Amino acid sequence: MAAAKKKVFSGIQPTGELHLGNLVGALRNWAQMQEDYETYYCVVDLHAMTVPYDPVAFGTARLETAKLVMASGIDPRRSVFYFQSQVPQHAELAWVLSTITGIGQLNRMTQYKEKADRTGQNLGLLSYPVLMAADILIHKVHAVPVGDDQRQHLELTRDLVERFNHRFGEVFPVPERITPEVGARVMSLQDPTSKMSKSDPDVRSRLLLTDSADQIRRKVRAAVTDSGRTVDYDWETKPGISNLLELFSVAAGRSTEDLAAEYRDQGYGRFKGAVAEALCEYMAPVRERYEGMEDAEVSRLMSEGAAEARRRAAVSMATVWEAVGLSTRP
Ligand code: TYM
Repeated sequence: MAAAKKKVFSGIQPTGELHLGNLVGALRNWAQMQEDYETYYCVVDLHAMTVPYDPVAFGTARLETAKLVMASGIDPRRSVFYFQSQVPQHAELAWVLSTITGIGQLNRMTQYKEKADRTGQNLGLLSYPVLMAADILIHKVHAVPVGDDQRQHLELTRDLVERFNHRFGEVFPVPERITPEVGARVMSLQDPTSKMSKSDPDVRSRLLLTDSADQIRRKVRAAVTDSGRTVDYDWETKPGISNLLELFSVAAGRSTEDLAAEYRDQGYGRFKGAVAEALCEYMAPVRERYEGMEDAEVSRLMSEGAAEARRRAAVSMATVWEAVGLSTRP
């Protein structure tokens, strides 16, 4: 008998438009992992409620996110892909996990501190990482493909698994974080010391998955570079160039060293031109697939995904209730 496939979960928030950082840091791994793993992917709409949002636009935003995730290569026939709020077991498990989470540990989370400063505190924002742990654990997965900024959240999840299993028996595997070697932290095109982000007010700081080839060319041309003239892969002295080199590497499928050697003395202008062309080619299929998608069809696929996820999550949630002493059996 063939061995059971290992399982994978990851999520993405439907806040703002998806950008190249999401694709390079996470989504391309999500797509890749469909080959060898049993994959669960989720648009985490409950997480997006922890910052102020417009309820009228929310439904459209999450559908757009689902479309872009599918356009990035996530195939709902191969992955269980759904909206988090349509699978109530995520919130149920988050409650159970919250009872073994220390408040001090949540208070120390970097993303909590940053967001609380920006948008104000609320209990949901503080317990955000507990819901995230529940997302990962509800399907008892072994691996989680994410960008580097999720490192601390994954550490908390692993701590919670150890604490839970120690107290209630071996229920969950300890999940492994999967980050790409190149592109785990794509930086802003306007400030290479801060990460490319959906919430940056400067639209030139990020390449959107929906950007046209012209927009990509313009933003890359306007990208902040470093002093000096040579193209070197060195994050200390040349963060702007190193960021572009990593993007070039992913788009062209060549190593950063190889590209730095080829473009070293060609000047920033030519280098940026080549980066832009490679990115146009890399991003075009995603945009084209996105443009060809029908909202109604995507909604239907998301409902089917949620129904399947609920069936599977109910089975694993029953093992959790059993372990904590609240058996659901008659
Ligand atoms: P989110 O929605 O901010 O981002 C989705 C994914 O994109 C990655 N990412 C980046 N990677 C490289 N460079 C960047 N500049 C960049 N910006 C974003 C993120 O690391 C992430 O993998 N908390 C999560 C959502 C979440 C989740 C989960 C993830 C909720 N539950 C369970 C994994 C497992 C978030 O806000 O991602």
